[in-house]
Parts: sequence; C-alpha cells; structure tokens
Amino acid sequence: MQAWVIGNWKQNPATSHDVNVLLDDLLVAVDAEKQAAIEVSKRCTLMVAPSCIHLAAVNARLKGSSILSAAQDISAHSASTGAYTGDCSAQQVADTGATWTILGHSERRQYHNESNDSLVKKLTHALTQNLGAILCIGETQAQYDAKQTLDVIDTQLSVIKDLLAQQPDLIASLPERLIIAYEPVWAIGTGKVPTVAEVSKTHQHIKQKMASFAEAIDSMTVLYGGSVNADNADSFASDPMIDGALVGGASLKAESFLMIAKAFSSANI
Ligand code: PGA
Repeated sequence: MQAWVIGNWKQNPATSHDVNVLLDDLLVAVDAEKQAAIEVSKRCTLMVAPSCIHLAAVNARLKGSSILSAAQDISAHSASTGAYTGDCSAQQVADTGATWTILGHSERRQYHNESNDSLVKKLTHALTQNLGAILCIGETQAQYDAKQTLDVIDTQLSVIKDLLAQQPDLIASLPERLIIAYEPVWAIGTGKVPTVAEVSKTHQHIKQKMASFAEAIDSMTVLYGGSVNADNADSFASDPMIDGALVGGASLKAESFLMIAKAFSSANI
C-alpha cells in the first residue's frame, strides 16, 4: 500500500516570502531524492496543506512536481458560490489546483464548533467537486483518561454512515478519495504521543468500523497525527496498521518533513 505523509501548515508561515523559502527547500530536497534514485514519492505520496490565502501560489509552484496539495477546510454552506463571508468553497479550492482538503481537524472542532452535521455537508461538497477528503478524528485527554477513545471515534466516524445514507452515489469515490487521520487531541503540538501499539489498535478499530458501513471501504487508509517528528516516525512507520502521517509542526521544515516521508517510504519497501 502507498504511504501518505501530509504536512498541515495550519496558520503558517506568516508571509509569502516564507512560504516560498519552505517550498524552495522542499522542492530541492525532493529533486535531490530523485537524482539519487531513492525517490521517496514512489512509495509515499507527499502532500502539503497551506493556509487558504497561499493555496493558489503554492499550487502554481508545485505544478509538475510529485507533491500534492490540500486546503485545510472548505465551506459547509455551498460547494460553489454564495453570500458566505469568509468562506472558501470546494470549487474555489479545486480551481487553485488543490486536489484534497483536510476536514474536521480538532482545531476546527474546538475553535469553530465543527459538528457532524456540517462535516457531512463539507464531505458532500468536497467529493462532488472531485476533492479528496482527509477526515480528522480523535479523543481529548479527558476522554483518553476515561478510556472513551473508541466510543469517541465511533461517534465521529458516524458522519460517514450519515453521508452514505444521504448520498449513496458517493460510495464509489470513497476508497480513492477519503483518508482518515487519527489524531488524539492531547498529542497535537504537545510532544506527547500514544504508544505505537495503542495507535495500531485504534487504527484497526477504525478500519473495521469503516468496513462495517460498506464493503467498498474495507481497506481504508488511516494516518496517525500528533507530534510526529523525524525521531519517532520510524516507529509509527513500522506498524502495518499505520498508513502514513498527518504532520503539523515538523512539516514546517523541509528536512524533518522529508525525514518522516523517508521513514514511511522505507517501511513500505
Ligand atoms: P503536530 O500537529 O504534528 O504539530 O502535533 C498535527 C496536526 O495538528 O495535524
């Protein structure tokens, strides 16, 4: 199975200049891999998710490279246009050349009250505009301590069940166009990580849950996210249940991002 390493840049970098510096480093490093014939991208799909304001410029620079791009969110209100101040639609995102969008990130759930209802709408908009969706799920520290991880995940994954009930025609696109990212909220940006065994068990549960919704999604790609870095990537990559990583902080330096991609790429040989 092809691995995926996705850089979630969040509200970074601050300027277009710094975006270009990061892209320069990334493109040079990916090219060097190519020259050395150890092309990471052959076994590991690389993707970056810049802030919406930088998406078009990033895509112009990524044209012709093997690196894909994603938005960090899309409008729940309209797939196309409308009077929704501050929103960016799936069609507008796709028009920049992006092919994916992150949805349901815990920071969106926390600061923007993202609900399962709005996620069903966003998933529908993404898929009908030919954007893939990286759906983020994960429990808080309190839920982890109370051993509620799998219950929380089941509730968050019910958006897929609701989506299929409302839009049964979308089922065919899901194996190729949906990725689940398991991100324990307490591991995001904290340097704390669950054990690989814990992540593996949770991923197995996610895959089984998805398969219970429809036969077509019986081998879902499931990424781990939360304080993944160049030092711990090998251990996550070594587990067959972990199909890649959604990386925040460590994706803001080309070197650490590429080290993580190499870990998943080598584990996939
Ligand atoms: P982190 O963020 O790698 O900085 O913990 C991950 C994420 O929020 O996607």
